[in-house]
Amino acid sequence: MSETPESEVPASESFVGHVINEIITSPLNLALVGVIALLIYKIIKSRIEVPHSHSAPKDDLPRLRRDFTPQELREYDGTQPDGRVLMAVLGNVYDVTKGKRFYGPGGPYAAFAGRDASRGLATFSVSRSDDVEYDDLSDLSTMEMDSVREWEMQFKEKYPLVGRLLKPGEEPSTYSDDEEEGAAEAASSQNHSKSE
Ligand code: HEM
Repeated sequence: MSETPESEVPASESFVGHVINEIITSPLNLALVGVIALLIYKIIKSRIEVPHSHSAPKDDLPRLRRDFTPQELREYDGTQPDGRVLMAVLGNVYDVTKGKRFYGPGGPYAAFAGRDASRGLATFSVSRSDDVEYDDLSDLSTMEMDSVREWEMQFKEKYPLVGRLLKPGEEPSTYSDDEEEGAAEAASSQNHSKSE
């Protein structure tokens, strides 16, 4: 009554079985299946990630241009309502809000948020410093300074420059709206070379 035509089921089963058998017994076929699976994974992943990056709040924040004392920088540790995160490296302040997953509250490098990260980067330490004094880094070794300069190159590439970290008694610069980034860049590298 409910008999399945015997010739059909075994035929399709044997076909599928044959294909599976072909795949698992041939290393070349196995490798091809692996490559196809990887490509499918990458395509799906990129489709999921695109809308994500568009909805990130970082895009909404206006560009910030000003200098900070270490004390003033503290405010920008990502816990404010706008979630902006700033970080100083070798006398320059960067807006690292787009790296919030690193520096935002609970992130692996949250200890750098709103602070001068130079010493931590130089010594590979992520412990939080509550010192608000300007750190002149004068006790760091050449190797440690080289290490922090390498980090600095990465930050310059990746994050917008906001201004300078002010030494005690230093006056903040005035940045005009239409000013090119190069001007601040020059001012800040001058600032840094003075400390060397
Ligand atoms: C077990 C030790 C560590 C592991 C496994 C690790 C892992 C990573 C990984 C995978 C990234 C890249 C994330 C990405 O681009 O998606 C990264 C970035 C980074 N790591 Fe580490 N890390 C370690 C220790 C440290 C230490 C000790 C420091 C302190 C100097 C540090 C500072 C950083 C910084 C500043 C970034 C760059 C974030 C950015 O692009 O803004 N890491 N780390």
